[in-house]
Amino acid sequence: MVLGCSGVFIPISVLEWYYCCVQPTPVGQRRTRRIYTDLGMPIGLLARQRVCWPAPMIATKEYTEGTTTFLSADIEHYAADSHQLTSDLPVFYNPRMRVNRDLSVLFLLAYLDRSPIQAMCEPLAGCGVRTLRYLNECPGEFHALVSDTNPLALDVVRKNIERYGFEHRTTIKRGDAKVLLLTESREKRFDFVDLDPFGSPAPFLTAAVQSLSPKRAMLGLTATDMPVLCGAQPRVAIRKYGGLSIRAPFSHELAVRLLIGRAYSVAAMNDCAVYPLAALSTDHYIRVWLDIRTSCTDSNDQARNMGFVVYCEGCMRTETVPLGPSLTQLRIQHERDDCKGRVSLAGPLWTGEMYNQSLLDTASQFLSKKPDNYDKRVPKLLGAMREENALADHIYVDIHALCDLHGLESPSMASLMTRLREAGYKASRTHFRPTAIRTNASVREITASARDLTNPM
Ligand SMILES: C[S@@+](CC[C@H](N)C(=O)[O-])C[C@H]1O[C@@H](n2cnc3c(N)ncnc32)[C@H](O)[C@@H]1O
Ligand SMILES: [Zn+2]
Repeated sequence: MVLGCSGVFIPISVLEWYYCCVQPTPVGQRRTRRIYTDLGMPIGLLARQRVCWPAPMIATKEYTEGTTTFLSADIEHYAADSHQLTSDLPVFYNPRMRVNRDLSVLFLLAYLDRSPIQAMCEPLAGCGVRTLRYLNECPGEFHALVSDTNPLALDVVRKNIERYGFEHRTTIKRGDAKVLLLTESREKRFDFVDLDPFGSPAPFLTAAVQSLSPKRAMLGLTATDMPVLCGAQPRVAIRKYGGLSIRAPFSHELAVRLLIGRAYSVAAMNDCAVYPLAALSTDHYIRVWLDIRTSCTDSNDQARNMGFVVYCEGCMRTETVPLGPSLTQLRIQHERDDCKGRVSLAGPLWTGEMYNQSLLDTASQFLSKKPDNYDKRVPKLLGAMREENALADHIYVDIHALCDLHGLESPSMASLMTRLREAGYKASRTHFRPTAIRTNASVREITASARDLTNPM
């Protein structure tokens, strides 16, 4: 049987093809898929649970990211029918996640610069582009375990690995991510695990942390369940991340902090400490890169990085309150004495650092050597991360939201930051939002500066 594609044919077994048709879907999601015969004749939209004969052909296409060329399901071909994009593809590939992978390559390059790795694992691999890029674009002879539950994906991964001659550096296995992480790491733990699931990485965290090399390892986590993390489903956030999410102009920062907070808790219960390397929030997802090492002492110490963020909708004041024995009441100091705004509470979440400056700087050096290998948004994102790190303990303030609240026109971010710096404050952009800044000035002082700039006396 063949998996057909524009120019490339990948053999698959009857069982694998059957799997493609009956692969389980999340509850409540109805999916259909266009199946093609060996002759390339469309035989229509089939309900998932139906099996048809003759065998399907899956259209694949060649794509390029960075310096890596690879095959995956032909997105345009499949999108023509269902307006659903990537999650409905017979083999997963989402080109909109390129920035995530570009930065992942850069951060792995920077990490390898000081800490060579021997073994990595991507247990939710889709077409395998991520690992293929690590193998092709990063130095070293590290070995990669690539797995997925979808056999069609693994056939494409195999083809992609063969095209580069990386068979000796790769093991491809079909299976559940949690099981494989635990079983495949018994003889040799992984120095790098990359979790890039549909939705939340939380269910895979325990297995991932337990599969890591105790001395030192990197863990990359992508989360796409933004309604959960950004306050639309706060109870689900408690269930998945152990903390409340809230709706706020800075909810994406809270999302990152909830994710790191969960990673800290899981690492801590396994006697490990978590050192955040970088955080990304863009499009419809967040991503964090963490250094994880066994250390009860550091882990105990890091408990003080867990806390709450208190936010008043009426005056946009935010306060960070550490979790600890001194936490008796969560009362906010409003920006105006008469403020009666609704106060909400996010967390417990990670209130500590989100970035490692030296890793960001090294990544930036790698970027400047080969800028054309990366998406054009990457330099701006990385530049803003480097800039905001020094002020990352101040939750960012969305200037458009603040000006709307006070009926002001929004000044440009550059002029507002200059104004604040002239007044003796620190201020930086943030990669999280082009309309937001980080500053040690209070909301009242930011408002006064914005007013001066847009309504000069
Ligand atoms: C978001 S995609 C991965 C994308 C890929 N990492 C990339 O960068 O293009 C998630 C993948 O996880 C696979 N998957 C879902 N649940 C799984 C599980 N429990 N164990 C292993 N793979 C799973 C899906 O088949 C899908 O290919
Ligand atoms: Zn208030």
